[in-house]
Amino acid sequence: MSKINIILDCDPGHDDAIALLLSCYSDKLNLLAVTTSSGNQTIEKTSKNALNLLNFFNKNVPLAKGSPTPLKRKVMICPEIHGESGLDGFIFPNYEEKYDSREGYQLIIDTLLSNEHVTVVTTGPMTNLAKAILHNREILKHIDEIVLMGGSTGKGNITEYSEFNILVDPEAADICFKSGVPLRMLGLNVTRKILVREKIVEEASKINTKGSDLFVKLMKVFNENQRSFFSLEAGPLHDPATIISLIDPTVFTFEDMLVEIDTSESEKAGQTRCKKSTITNCKVATSVDIDKYWEIIFDHLRRCK
Ligand code: BDR
Ligand code: CA
Repeated sequence: MSKINIILDCDPGHDDAIALLLSCYSDKLNLLAVTTSSGNQTIEKTSKNALNLLNFFNKNVPLAKGSPTPLKRKVMICPEIHGESGLDGFIFPNYEEKYDSREGYQLIIDTLLSNEHVTVVTTGPMTNLAKAILHNREILKHIDEIVLMGGSTGKGNITEYSEFNILVDPEAADICFKSGVPLRMLGLNVTRKILVREKIVEEASKINTKGSDLFVKLMKVFNENQRSFFSLEAGPLHDPATIISLIDPTVFTFEDMLVEIDTSESEKAGQTRCKKSTITNCKVATSVDIDKYWEIIFDHLRRCK
């Protein structure tokens, strides 16, 4: 079977880091490029984290810094969960700072135009992809699917109504959801069920590879912060859901829905309103096989030697 070409647009970020690990080590995926978004930390910090991770995984793909700000709104970051660096808990060697000279959206455009079939995965605010669409709608023909971690069919995590990635840049999400490209949404309603419980960390620590070492060190800090900030018993590992849904489509079940983004200035800004309808624009994840999810994570931690 041929591999799925992907572009990963991310804001590492503890859970983004594990999504990136899976993208680098999966034999089902062909990672074409990585772009960074401002989200969990500033663009400089999320980019440095992506650079460190790609070097740590010995993966040589173009990496471009994305937009430093959302399309219209003020920058919003999340040091409460991801720390000062955006990836607190792991110290990387000093790698050479080599970024692609293009801005993220331009790397997305160029990568799409030089490939026929590409899946664009976003695990942060959707600013870069929206900017790419605004600059060149030709790219839409080259996108098989947009797979995102974001939104929720129910409650949010930052406000009662909104999930972080969509709340940071609702206008960008709105452009992507109205693009006409098939979408697949992995939202809080499923990702909040995937908790990095103590026994998961213990099991991972027995794997004893550089991947498991990274995972264990990152998850200890992630869990502590999630407990004190969100009062959750353990941190939800949101972002790898996107990549796992590509590696094994049976891990999640999806329902076709019409998803609309709230771009108002009200308390509902960033809400993903998901409805069953005759006209639909998105496959929305509604359930997850948690055992399979962890099996896939452990399998990839083993490969990261
Ligand atoms: C999302 O927000 C970020 O903090 C995580 O990396 C994830 O992408 C969850 O709401
Ligand atoms: Ca993220």
